[in-house]
Amino acid sequence: MQLLYYPDPRLREVALPVPVVDEDVRANAKEMIEIMHAHKGIGLAATQVGWNRRLFVVGSPEGEEGRGLERVFVNPKIVSAAGAMESEEGCLSLPGIYATLRRSSMVVMEALDLEGRTVRLEAEKLLASVIQHEIDHLDGVLFITRLSPADRQRVKKQLRELEEKYRPDGVR
Ligand code: NI
Repeated sequence: MQLLYYPDPRLREVALPVPVVDEDVRANAKEMIEIMHAHKGIGLAATQVGWNRRLFVVGSPEGEEGRGLERVFVNPKIVSAAGAMESEEGCLSLPGIYATLRRSSMVVMEALDLEGRTVRLEAEKLLASVIQHEIDHLDGVLFITRLSPADRQRVKKQLRELEEKYRPDGVR
């Protein structure tokens, strides 16, 4: 497993549900947590490591104290959302690109945990933003598709640089 970078086409795939939460799923989730920390991220979706399944991990970037508090959400669904907020987002698959996005300020999510139990989570602020960002990944949506026209213009050159740097061999 390794982190995929824009413009890898696998980042545009819609992920499939995880059929059963088994040892393989737990092992992959553990590896994703390591990759997230190695890149100092606070969230990582399975599609970002080339695993086309509906699962994401979240964690704290704050050094060691957040270790062990990571959470894994399998087959996540937003069951309700409310409010609006603007916050700055970035993405491990789009290094160096940051932009302010408008999203719901509160979401209620249902998912399975790594034991296959249903969990329900009410999130706001940063966690709400991360959840919406990661579920977008599972639908093949990168945050750059949600930019304002002005921001899209602003990051155009950086995107082109990433395209040159990370374009998979043979894809034009
Ligand atoms: Ni991302």
